[in-house]
Order: sequence, then structure tokens, then C-alpha cells
Amino acid sequence: MSPVPLIQVRELVKDFDGQRVLAGVNLDIMEGGIKVVMGPSGCGKSTLLRCLNRLVEPTSGTIHLRGQLVTGAGVDVRALRQGIGFVFQQFALYRHLTVLDNVSLALRKLRGMRRLEAEQKAMYELARLDMAAHRDKYPGQISGGQKQRVALARALAMDPAVVVMDEPTSALDPLLTREVAQLIQRLHGEKVTLLCVTHDVLLARSITEQVVFLDRGVVRAEGSIEHLSSAHPDALIRDFFGRESGA
Ligand SMILES: Nc1ncnc2c1ncn2[C@@H]1O[C@H](COP(=O)(O)OP(=O)(O)O)[C@@H](O)[C@H]1O
Ligand SMILES: [Mg+2]
Repeated sequence: MSPVPLIQVRELVKDFDGQRVLAGVNLDIMEGGIKVVMGPSGCGKSTLLRCLNRLVEPTSGTIHLRGQLVTGAGVDVRALRQGIGFVFQQFALYRHLTVLDNVSLALRKLRGMRRLEAEQKAMYELARLDMAAHRDKYPGQISGGQKQRVALARALAMDPAVVVMDEPTSALDPLLTREVAQLIQRLHGEKVTLLCVTHDVLLARSITEQVVFLDRGVVRAEGSIEHLSSAHPDALIRDFFGRESGA
């Protein structure tokens, strides 16, 4: 018996105003696994992620999380969103709250934890990401890379089934790419299930060898960057992976 994926996306379609953005996406993410979805700008990466936590309603198709249907009526969207640790492109931290409050707020408001318990949990996650010393700072007082760690700590604090990152390097200095890749690998080593979308081949390459290539709303290829850049029969795919990886 083959293991059941933590997340199973089947024939996912999304139309915006008559334009087909997702055209039947199939994707599996295993528990403890790491999936990097790549593709050119506008190919539907963010839309795919947003379908996962119902920020976007799919036109058709299904998504299952731990065997439970995510798409469709009667789903507890609030509970669903708590189980998916979204790290947004611009981090979406509350500017008027300290680092510690940013991470502990949802634990208190959504999980009903008392302040002390919530702060202990938040500090555990901040320490895990080397951000404990910055607990009393405001987002305006820390760097982009540090903001990202806070956003990650906030996501991890909810013990999500999966951590989802949308273009984790787009708001950062290119020099930080390696640092972000190391961070993602560390979480992977700690058995955190990760889904990361990016158009950055360098980032993808330093996270994992196996990637999924999304183009015009469907998964066109899946495999190692090495293979996709040198041996894939489609020249457009070879170009995408070859050009941006500096090969
Ligand atoms: N809310 C929306 N309404 C209309 N069109 C949208 C919406 N969100 C995304 N799109 C369109 O869907 C396509 C894919 O967008 P997106 O998923 O953001 O791509 P990516 O993240 O790969 O760059 C784009 O053409 C974009 O303009
Ligand atoms: Mg996007």
C-alpha cells in the first residue's frame, strides 16, 4: 500500500473572468516532504497556493488535506487556515505589534491560550529561528530577512500541517537567497512539511533537486533541475531551468 499524501490536488481548475488560470493541476505533497513549484510569472503559482486555504475558490477539481476535502461546501475555512502556515510574499506582519506579539497573537485569539502560555510557545518558535533576542522590536526595526523569520515563526507557532511559502526571496536582497534556502532545509530536517513556490531557479536549486514546473496552469514537468535543464524534450523548459540557473 502506498502512503497517502498529506495534500492531494486533483484536476484543479480556476477561471478568472473567463480566463483559465489553472487548467487541471495535479500535485501530491507527502507528510514531511518538501515540494518546490516553479514557473514563469503569471503561470498561476500564487493562485494555486490561495486555493489551498480557500482565499481563492476553485472553479472545479478537488484538494484533500489529510484525506479531508478542502474544497467544497461545509468546510470549516477558519480551522483550515489555522492548519496551513502561510508565509506571504510581503510577510504581512502587524507594524504596531512587537515581534513577540506578532507571533503570539493568533495563539491567544484563535487558540485561546493565556498570555503566558502563548508567549512561551512564541518564544520557542522565535528561538528556533534565531530571533529570540529581537522579541521586543517592531517590524520597522528589523531587516527583511528577520521579518521573514518572524513570519515563519508565526506560521510554525500554530503547528500547521504544512508551511506554505510564496516567493520567499522576492522581497529580499539576492544575497539572502542562500540563507533562506538553509532555513527551509533546516525546517525540512525537522520534519516540517513544506510547499514553496518560486520563479527563482537559484533558490529552488539550493533547496532541493526535485521540482515541479507549472506553466499556463498545468504541471508540465516534474523532476530534477539537472534533468529539466539539460535533457527535457521541451526547449522552453530546458531554457527556463538552464538560463536562470546560470548553467
Ligand atoms: N483575483 C484575480 N482576479 C483576476 N485575475 C487574477 C486574480 N489573481 C490572479 N489573476 C490572474 O491569474 C494569472 C496568474 O496569476 P498568479 O497566480 O498570481 O501567477 P504567479 O503567482 O505564478 O505569478 C495572472 O494572469 C493574473 O493576472
Ligand atoms: Mg505569485
